[in-house]
Amino acid sequence: MSLPSTIAIDGPAASGKSTLARRLAERLNYLYFDTGVMYRAVTWLALERQASLEDEALITRFAEETQIDVRPPSKDDGRAYDVLVDGEDVTWAIRSPEVDANVSVVAAYAGVRRALTEQQRRIGLRGRVVMVGRDIGTVVLPEAELKIYLDASVEERARRRYQECVARGDAVTYEEVLQAMKRRDQIDSTRAVAPLRPAEDAVILNSDDLTAEQVIEQVLSYVRNCG
Ligand code: CDP
Repeated sequence: MSLPSTIAIDGPAASGKSTLARRLAERLNYLYFDTGVMYRAVTWLALERQASLEDEALITRFAEETQIDVRPPSKDDGRAYDVLVDGEDVTWAIRSPEVDANVSVVAAYAGVRRALTEQQRRIGLRGRVVMVGRDIGTVVLPEAELKIYLDASVEERARRRYQECVARGDAVTYEEVLQAMKRRDQIDSTRAVAPLRPAEDAVILNSDDLTAEQVIEQVLSYVRNCG
């Protein structure tokens, strides 16, 4: 049986992509690569340097010149990997509500996407990878052998993200998380470059009424029937 060597998982925020991809990669012994981390890292850097997020040229330069590394976890604090920006550990900092609120603006810039897509594609083409994002099946790796589009209602996704924020101790309300998520969905799916949408040959799954375990079992059945 031949397994798909590149697996693309796309979908909106908090639809369960990361959990699915991480477990899938573990089961198959593939690399798990979450491309959202890169857009978050550039956004974190821009906020840290107090750059104007409207300054597209400056933000694009950050994306081109900044060294973003994703490495095996160095700490046992619930992280799946370390994220380093020019050597600084930003693994948790890139999950802040400030980054959440601004990342879609940064990710809509064509120059930022060009710089990050190029790096993602290079990693993806090595194979044995589960790559997660918004545009993996459509733009980054259109040749991926298996494409999953994982969806869920915005209310369910906001509920999940709210619980993550509470667990981390962030001071936010459900309503704030819901509004921020609707705004991000809107920007991600209407931007000119690489908007969020399922690839024509993607399998679409809705995770509203499925447990994480049911989602992975379903996807493993696609993996087995793909080759
Ligand atoms: O974890 P969550 O689903 O909330 O977000 P993420 O996957 O970390 O992505 C954060 C943001 O980066 C998204 O809302 C998109 O604006 C952007 N992104 C993108 O444009 N393309 C990707 N391949 C991955 C993320």
